[in-house]
Amino acid sequence: MKIAIIGGTGDQGLGLALRFVKAGEDVIVGSRDIKKAETAVDLMKDILGSEDLPNLTAMTNQDAASNGDIIILTVPLQAQMVTLKSIKDNLKGEIFVDATSPLEGCLGGKPTRYVDLWEGSAAERSAEFLGDNAVVVSAFCNISASSLTTVDEDVECDCLVSGDDHEANLIVMELAEKISGVKSIECGALENARIVEKLTPLLINLNIRNKVKNAGIRISNI
Ligand SMILES: NC(=O)c1ccc[n+]([C@@H]2O[C@H](COP(=O)([O-])OP(=O)(O)OC[C@H]3O[C@@H](n4cnc5c(N)ncnc54)[C@H](OP(=O)(O)O)[C@@H]3O)[C@@H](O)[C@H]2O)c1
Repeated sequence: MKIAIIGGTGDQGLGLALRFVKAGEDVIVGSRDIKKAETAVDLMKDILGSEDLPNLTAMTNQDAASNGDIIILTVPLQAQMVTLKSIKDNLKGEIFVDATSPLEGCLGGKPTRYVDLWEGSAAERSAEFLGDNAVVVSAFCNISASSLTTVDEDVECDCLVSGDDHEANLIVMELAEKISGVKSIECGALENARIVEKLTPLLINLNIRNKVKNAGIRISNI
């Protein structure tokens, strides 16, 4: 199963790519600029201490979307729609994981505040725009890039997964649990992303208050 990360050169995409490559998955790092994707792949090889990683490749976002079996979107809110428009025609109904958290910081405001979107959540915005071209699942939006890139330590955060297609949710949950330390929790329909995405600005607030970079969520007794 090939995992294509759209915007895989940024903090979150790079962190997810590192974890999935480490778990032996095939990962495509996507970017608007192939050279930037190649540089990100070189950086990941350095971090993982291996020049020989045939399961890690660099592509443009469009080629990544065409070649991926699961697509993960890791771009900031202000880049979400332009990125979706650039790859929609490359999608053929694959599972599309939206990790966007609509932070006010993306629009020049505070990163500790949430932006209300007309569609309800960033993940619902992706679903509305992509239509039959993708099965959208919301996941990874509460897991900090800092904890993902610290590859030798477990990630102390649950992955809250929301989506209207239960089978797709299960596939994403299994994928998330390839990240050492992560437990997946199915949260139900995609509209629950409205709640889950809102937890991220709270976690950023907790990071700032406690002078850490990796505050996370754990659900107990499930
Ligand atoms: N960072 C975290 O700790 C974290 C945690 C949870 C959720 N998230 C979510 O994950 C997403 C990515 O976060 P991030 O911190 O990785 O973001 P980022 O580093 O700012 O950006 C990720 C990538 O998005 C692309 N991009 C940036 N601006 C763009 C624009 N105007 N138009 C098109 N593409 C653009 C760039 O890729 P190319 O230049 O290579 O195309 C960039 O490397 C966000 O929605 C965020 O809310 C982040």
